[in-house]
Amino acid sequence: MKKLLLMLLLLCPLVGLAEEGPPLDEAPDLANNPAALQRGAKLFVNYCLSCHSAQSMRYNRLHDIGLTDDEIKRNLLFATDAVGDTMKVAMRPADAKAWFGAAPPDLSVMARAKSPDYIYTYLRTYYRDPTRPTGWNNLAYPNTAMPHILWQLQGIRDATFKEQSNPEDPAQKDMKFTGFTQVTEGTLNQVQYDSAVADLTAFMTYMSEPARKTRHELGVWVLLFLAVFTFITWRLNAAFWKNVH
Ligand code: HEC
Repeated sequence: MKKLLLMLLLLCPLVGLAEEGPPLDEAPDLANNPAALQRGAKLFVNYCLSCHSAQSMRYNRLHDIGLTDDEIKRNLLFATDAVGDTMKVAMRPADAKAWFGAAPPDLSVMARAKSPDYIYTYLRTYYRDPTRPTGWNNLAYPNTAMPHILWQLQGIRDATFKEQSNPEDPAQKDMKFTGFTQVTEGTLNQVQYDSAVADLTAFMTYMSEPARKTRHELGVWVLLFLAVFTFITWRLNAAFWKNVH
């Protein structure tokens, strides 16, 4: 037992070390807020599907978050799509690779692969950088090939960095991020922008596991059943062995 504890203790720092990069902001949990999920779906369809696909997601699955076929058709579908279609990309992947240098990945399960906190942080830490081919750079994913898609909402921002010597190797200089400066206003203020990205992140989290809500609801009953069943087996066991001795 002591050995096991010791091993667990030794493993702890490893878990910490596996994380790299700047700390991520925590994405608000909006899984049980259908209005937020619907706003997120709208942003996703309008801003992301031009480059990314979400092949595991069918439009009519959006009934889950409270949308009717009619609302899906009116607000979310491109003219060529049917309600039963999956979320296909508007651009050909080969073109995208040629234009951006990296193919935009399918976003169906991105929130599970990278974590909601990562997506929430990624979409909120873009800044202007004339040295990049797209004109944009990002704190969560430095030198990302993806431009700042939501810049009209957020406005243009510059980032300031301070040169700092590396604690492990004083000869080397690190650039430490010190803050953003707003250059032009977006159509949203910062609070509204954060909230829009939170909605979008919540939608992507839902999309990465549409059955999560059902799983949680079912989970309670399963645990309850197991508890009752354990009690019955325990009493049954006592009854069976009562006369044996
Ligand atoms: C103009 C095309 C384009 C649009 C529109 C676009 N993306 Fe991207 N996206 C890319 C490209 C290119 C990459 C690959 C970046 C790389 O690996 O450097 C990418 C990568 C990503 C990644 C993965 C980042 C990582 O760490 O690997 C996420 C998450 C993402 N996009 C989310 C979104 C969301 C959410 C939207 C809608 C708001 C969106 N993208 C709209 C081009 C686009």
